[in-house]
Amino acid sequence: MFKRLLLQLCALIVAGGMSATTLANVPAPPVNQNIGIPDGVFNDLVRENCWYCHIPVRLTPDDLDDIGWTFAPPEVKPGVITDRHHFRVGTVIQDPTDSPFGVPGENYQCLDCHIVEYNEDVGYFEIVDNFTNCLNCHQQIPGQASVHHLTAPAQALNCMHCHGARIDNPGDGHYIPIGRTPTLVTPRTSSGKGPNGEGACDFCHNEGTDDVTGRFIPTNDINHHSTGIGQPGISDLDCTICHDQMNTDWAIRRCQDCHGIKSIHNIQFDSNDDGVVTVGGEEPFFGHVGSSPQDCHGCHGGYLSASGMPAPFSGPIVPEILGLSKQRVTAGSAETITVSGQALTNEVLSFMGTMVLKSRVSLTELDGTTVELTPETVSPSEMEVTLPADLSPGNYYLRAVKGVDTISNPMTLLVGPQVTIDTVSADGSSFTITGGGFGAYLNAADSGTSVTIATTACSVDSWSDSEIVANCGTTACGSLEVESIFGSASKEVSCN
Ligand code: HEC
Ligand code: HEC
Ligand code: HEC
Ligand code: HEC
Ligand code: HEC
Ligand code: HEC
Ligand code: HEC
Ligand code: HEC
Repeated sequence: MFKRLLLQLCALIVAGGMSATTLANVPAPPVNQNIGIPDGVFNDLVRENCWYCHIPVRLTPDDLDDIGWTFAPPEVKPGVITDRHHFRVGTVIQDPTDSPFGVPGENYQCLDCHIVEYNEDVGYFEIVDNFTNCLNCHQQIPGQASVHHLTAPAQALNCMHCHGARIDNPGDGHYIPIGRTPTLVTPRTSSGKGPNGEGACDFCHNEGTDDVTGRFIPTNDINHHSTGIGQPGISDLDCTICHDQMNTDWAIRRCQDCHGIKSIHNIQFDSNDDGVVTVGGEEPFFGHVGSSPQDCHGCHGGYLSASGMPAPFSGPIVPEILGLSKQRVTAGSAETITVSGQALTNEVLSFMGTMVLKSRVSLTELDGTTVELTPETVSPSEMEVTLPADLSPGNYYLRAVKGVDTISNPMTLLVGPQVTIDTVSADGSSFTITGGGFGAYLNAADSGTSVTIATTACSVDSWSDSEIVANCGTTACGSLEVESIFGSASKEVSCN
């Protein structure tokens, strides 16, 4: 399984730069893999597979070569994984938590995740390597449930948290024609009633080998069931999340809890590589609303006389974020970053002429508080946005938002506190250092937290985010440096 996945992922990377028009699954099935998360099974991963999408700072692209990977930006790249953990230091431990030693409600300290042991041979504490295997703390159920789908948002059916508006959330009030009796126009989940089998999801989304990557794409039931959502013995969620009237014309209604008209009619890729997604003006089989009537017929069975007709709710094509020019910034100063992506703007052909819809940027804190920012420039593939100076330190989910609430996938933005030394006062050999952004201290070799004067280490007596007391000896002077989990700062201690 590991080998196969690696091969598949490598193929995906190698082909990543290829233009969509040179090779594509047209006509489907399987469908192209240009949008979002590759369709597949992810519940049997080993840590190297996690690294593919989440890259720890201690690994460089060269390290990934060492483990047999050809490195290139993957399709989903949350990135900066070490910092994402470390920026939790000083924040409240959530409930439930994957922290091996942390108590929900208390604030994160180093030892809530790390273990240190005294090494008698060298005479100091060392950090035990419990932290490089993601699966020591984040659980999957091999063959049954993936890490991501055991998280709190997934179990709370907040699928949009990670999948964005490519889907809707069950129960969020989006329109579903519940009362309307299904007709020949109503899509079926499978076995469409059109002359060539049109009129169902699996007319296009079915198993087969992806032309571009050579990856095998499984069927829709495998892709959904392998997440573990609604599978027996995992949680209170059951089959009825997705099935209530299986094998009937009504079956699609339950799917619409997540695949409502609102999301379904806004999934589209730029087929002709002209840089712009044009609703109604793309080649068929690159999404749902590119070409009318061909795309429409795939779901509506050829029974909707759709030629040239706009699909209801279509317009704000779901944007997707692929990367940030800078994923880590420092609080206290405004900074302009570039957000790259797909369909950050799109065109809609209407009776009034061509309309351009543009994304905004939203930042959501871990507690759910959200602010929206208006970017300075927006093109279909890039936005420039200035982050305000007054963002408080922490991890933020950055998303593109179009129309009222068409959100993209999230990418994490890390706002680090500024590490500053205000005062240093010495009383004999005891130095009191005040300032900010010191985080927490871990007394172990190479812990990344230390106080030194003229490169000689001091022993730490106490350490809080704003004050450190350290013993540096009575003759210490020169450049005093504090190295904290968030960065470092220094100040001259005069020799008198
Ligand atoms: C195919 C790419 C991919 C792979 C492989 C992958 N992840 Fe993720 N992961 C994501 C994306 C996308 C998100 C959602 C966006 C984000 O939080 O960055 C995410 C989010 C997470 C989250 C945060 C959940 C939350 O509450 O926000 C955890 C924890 C996580 N992944 C752990 C893992 C572990 C452990 C592995 C290996 C078993 C792994 N991931 C493999 C893409 C991937
Ligand atoms: C020693 C335990 C531990 C290990 C090992 C670990 N994590 Fe985590 N991770 C946590 C904890 C604790 C959190 C905070 C969320 C929580 O309380 O459940 C977290 C959070 C995350 C998040 C969300 C962070 C955010 O705020 O944006 C991601 C993504 C993630 N982990 C991925 C990984 C990946 C990938 C690996 C392997 C490279 C990994 N973790 C290794 C304990 C661990
Ligand atoms: C929420 C869990 C969490 C907390 C809290 C935490 N760490 Fe970590 N730390 C990790 C994870 C996960 C990694 C490893 C990611 C990777 O490289 O695979 C890591 C890696 C490290 C490393 C090795 C990094 C490298 O580049 O080699 C050091 C050193 C470290 N942590 C020190 C600390 C210190 C000091 C603190 C407290 C100030 C701390 N950590 C708090 C989760 C945590
Ligand atoms: C924490 C982020 C996160 C949340 C929340 C989440 N997913 Fe996912 N989902 C992912 C990631 C990352 C992948 C790819 C790796 C994997 O499957 O673990 C994925 C893959 C999938 C796939 C298979 C890939 C495909 O395109 O066919 C399906 C189906 C899916 N998720 C359904 C759901 C459903 C249903 C929910 C809500 C109940 C949900 N997800 C919530 C992150 C998430
Ligand atoms: C006319 C062919 C066609 C039909 C029929 C069809 N789709 Fe799609 N769908 C596509 C294409 C093409 C994409 C873009 C895939 C890509 O490039 O990643 C897509 C993408 C999606 C996505 C975005 C996530 C992803 O995996 O790429 C979802 C969700 C989706 N379709 C759901 C459905 C559902 C639900 C049905 C049945 C009601 C359906 N589709 C029927 C062609 C079709
Ligand atoms: C997250 C959504 C989801 C959940 C939960 C879910 N399924 Fe499915 N299931 C699907 C999808 C999508 C298909 C494909 C639909 C189709 O092609 O008609 C499917 C197809 C099926 C099929 C017919 C395909 C086949 O295997 O031949 C059966 C039987 C089935 N599911 C049983 C179950 C059972 C039993 C449960 C609960 C243990 C369950 N499903 C839970 C999404 C789900
Ligand atoms: C609880 C939410 C939920 C329900 C209910 C649900 N799906 Fe999905 N579905 C998802 C998510 C999430 C994805 C992955 C979207 C992405 O790639 O980001 C997905 C993807 C798809 C895709 C695109 C192909 C793929 O694998 O990515 C199809 C087709 C699809 N679903 C069909 C169905 C059908 C048919 C049903 C009803 C039997 C159904 N879904 C029920 C959440 C759901
Ligand atoms: C991926 C599948 C899919 C594609 C492709 C698609 N639709 Fe739909 N559409 C749906 C679903 C599902 C519904 C809800 C039908 C129902 O429940 O009866 C719907 C409903 C509609 C409705 C009725 C809306 C209402 O108020 O109930 C119209 C009109 C429509 N679609 C037009 C179009 C046109 C025009 C296109 C092509 C540009 C198109 N659709 C492409 C899935 C799709």
